[in-house]
Amino acid sequence: MARILVLGGSGFIGSNLIAALLDRSHVIFNFDRPGTSPKQFEKYSNYKFIPGSLSDSSHVRMVFDQQPYDKVIYLVSTLLPSSGYLEFIQERDINLVALFEVLRNMESNGCSDILFFSSGGTVYGLNGKSENKEEDPCLPFTYYGYTKWALEEYIRFLSRTTSVKYTIVRPSNPYGSGQNLFGKQGLIAVALGRVMANKPIEIWGDGQVIRDYLYIDDLVNAICLLLDIPACNQTFNVGSGLGASVNQIIEVVKEATGFPVQVQYSPARKIDVPVNILNIDKIKSTVSWEPKINLDEGIVKLWREMQSKSNL
Ligand SMILES: NC(=O)c1ccc[n+]([C@@H]2O[C@H](COP(=O)([O-])OP(=O)(O)OC[C@H]3O[C@@H](n4cnc5c(N)ncnc54)[C@H](O)[C@@H]3O)[C@@H](O)[C@H]2O)c1
Repeated sequence: MARILVLGGSGFIGSNLIAALLDRSHVIFNFDRPGTSPKQFEKYSNYKFIPGSLSDSSHVRMVFDQQPYDKVIYLVSTLLPSSGYLEFIQERDINLVALFEVLRNMESNGCSDILFFSSGGTVYGLNGKSENKEEDPCLPFTYYGYTKWALEEYIRFLSRTTSVKYTIVRPSNPYGSGQNLFGKQGLIAVALGRVMANKPIEIWGDGQVIRDYLYIDDLVNAICLLLDIPACNQTFNVGSGLGASVNQIIEVVKEATGFPVQVQYSPARKIDVPVNILNIDKIKSTVSWEPKINLDEGIVKLWREMQSKSNL
C-alpha cells in the first residue's frame, strides 16, 4: 500500500488509473481542478480529492505541505497533439513550468518517486523510424510533442542533480471507458461517438496513417505494475506493439457497431507522421506485462458501454 498523489487524476487516464489503484488498496490523493472529482470515488475511504490548480505555486506548496506522499503521478497537460503556437504560449505555465514547481516541492518534502506521462505518439516525431524503441532519437515536431520531450529532459536533468527518481511512460493511443466521445483526440472514441450521433467521421488524409492503439485497461495495468517497483530513472513505451491504419479502424468500427459508417476525407495534416508503432519489449521484460485486449475486443467493449449508458 502506498500513498500516491495523482496530479490531474479526474481526466480520462487518471480516473481509470485511480479506480484500479483504489482497488489495490493504495491511498489516493487526487489533485485536480475544483469540481472535477469523479463521483464514483466518493465511496472509497482511501480516496481524497484536493481541488486546486497546478499553475498556482501556492496550491502546489499547500498540497505537499498537507501530508507526505510515497509517489507522485503526473498527468496534467492542457495541450493536444494538434495544439499550435498560440496555445503553447498561452498554456506554458501549466504545461512547462508547473512540473518544475512540483519537483522542487517533492525534493523539499522528501518524496523522490515520480511517474510522468509523456507521449509515445509524438516524442519520436520525425526520426524516420516506423517502430520506436525508448532509446531511439526524439525529434518531436509538434508543440505538444516538444513540450513532453522538454519535460522529460527536465526530469532527467533533475534526477542527476537531486534525489528525485523517475519513471517516464510514453503511452501510444489509449482508448476506452471515460474518453471524450466528442473531443479533438482519440480516433476510436470520436469515431464511435460520430456513429452514435449518426454523423460522418472526419479523416485527415487518405486513412493510411498507422498508429498503435491500446485499450485503457491494459495501459492501467502496465502503470500499476510499474508503480509496484521503485522508480529507477527508466523510460517505458506502453502500447500494443501493433499498428493499425485509420481505414482499418473504420472497418472495425463498422463491424462492431453494425451501423453504416459515413466517412468524410479532409486534406492531410502536417502533424501526422505516416507510421508510429511502439516497441514494447522493455516494459514486457521489466514487469512481465503484455496487452490482453485486442482492437476488435476493445472497440466492441467501448461500443457496448456507450450503448448501455445511452439506454439509462
Ligand atoms: N489520452 C491520450 O490519448 C494520451 C496519449 C498519450 C499521453 N497522454 C498524456 O496522459 C496524460 C493524461 O491524459 P488524459 O487523456 O487523461 O488527459 P485529460 O485531459 O483527460 O486529463 C487531464 C487532467 O488534468 C487536469 N488539469 C488540467 N489543468 C490543470 C491544472 N491547472 N491544475 C490541476 N489539474 C489540471 C484536468 O482537469 C484533467 O482532469 C496527459 O499528460 C496526456 O498528455 C494522453
